[in-house]
Amino acid sequence: MDLGLHGKVAIVAGASRGLGKATALALAREGARVAICAREQDRLDSASNEIARIAGAEVLAVPCDVTSEVDVTGLIQVVLERWARINILVNNAGGPPAGLFDELTMTQWRSALELNLLSTVRLCRGVVPHMRHQQWGRIVNITSVSARQPVPGLMLSNAGRAGVLGFAKTLSNELAVDHITVNSVCPGYTRTDRLAELAQATAERESMDEDAVFRAWKEAIPMKRLGEPDELAALITFLCSIQAGYITGCAIPVDGGLIQSTF
Ligand SMILES: NC(=O)c1ccc[n+]([C@@H]2O[C@H](COP(=O)([O-])OP(=O)(O)OC[C@H]3O[C@@H](n4cnc5c(N)ncnc54)[C@H](OP(=O)(O)O)[C@@H]3O)[C@@H](O)[C@H]2O)c1
Repeated sequence: MDLGLHGKVAIVAGASRGLGKATALALAREGARVAICAREQDRLDSASNEIARIAGAEVLAVPCDVTSEVDVTGLIQVVLERWARINILVNNAGGPPAGLFDELTMTQWRSALELNLLSTVRLCRGVVPHMRHQQWGRIVNITSVSARQPVPGLMLSNAGRAGVLGFAKTLSNELAVDHITVNSVCPGYTRTDRLAELAQATAERESMDEDAVFRAWKEAIPMKRLGEPDELAALITFLCSIQAGYITGCAIPVDGGLIQSTF
């Protein structure tokens, strides 16, 4: 199937490693020109070189903190200067810390909403005028299963990511007439550096070894295994394709069956 992505210009946020990087690579393999961003320059540059080498594609690495208005404005400007348009936006960043209601401060709440909800709003505010002008666009938000089914102990993620789904659905209605789709993907336990860090933190907190943490996670998943970043990236790439033009306002899990809901 030709996904029609050849020559399309994509911004993938939070893409120096993990799910964002896998997504940038998948889009580049389909012939898209990809701008990737993250905060730490060295890892961003090495991801950019790797994607360019594997996909034989043009990749632009732009250091940018998605919680910063100035950085996001700069990112969009650099991409427009290089390629004169933006067709695809994949919103992504790190995850907020775990924590129960009683433990969390208002500062942590504000940071979490900046990181996952307001960064999404900010990037959309930057790209939507250009997509409208083109009368075509694809926006995909990387959220979490926590957006559809709250995970105990992940108060900030559960609340902030549900907010992203509400924003995305509302935006999808407003942009549908402009041929711009807005969808979200909800990864379950997927093999990335962040998951390894989460396993380590859980092991320390619960006084168990890391293997036992992974075993417990897998046990809860109907497929009894972790997801791979490529599996999420494949869905995002399809949602960005010309074939996905009639899919909008959806929140799709990629979780091995973890979410227990029929819709
Ligand atoms: N892996 C899973 O199992 C899983 C499951 C559900 C949801 N998720 C969520 O999916 C997202 C991606 O997960 P992941 O496992 O790929 O995480 P990851 O391995 O920690 O990668 C996060 C990426 O985002 C960048 N980033 C973090 N904060 C940023 C910021 N403020 N501005 C710009 N870039 C930023 C990081 O680079 P810098 O640090 O250099 O900025 C890195 O490139 C996270 O929100 C995570 O919570 C993951």
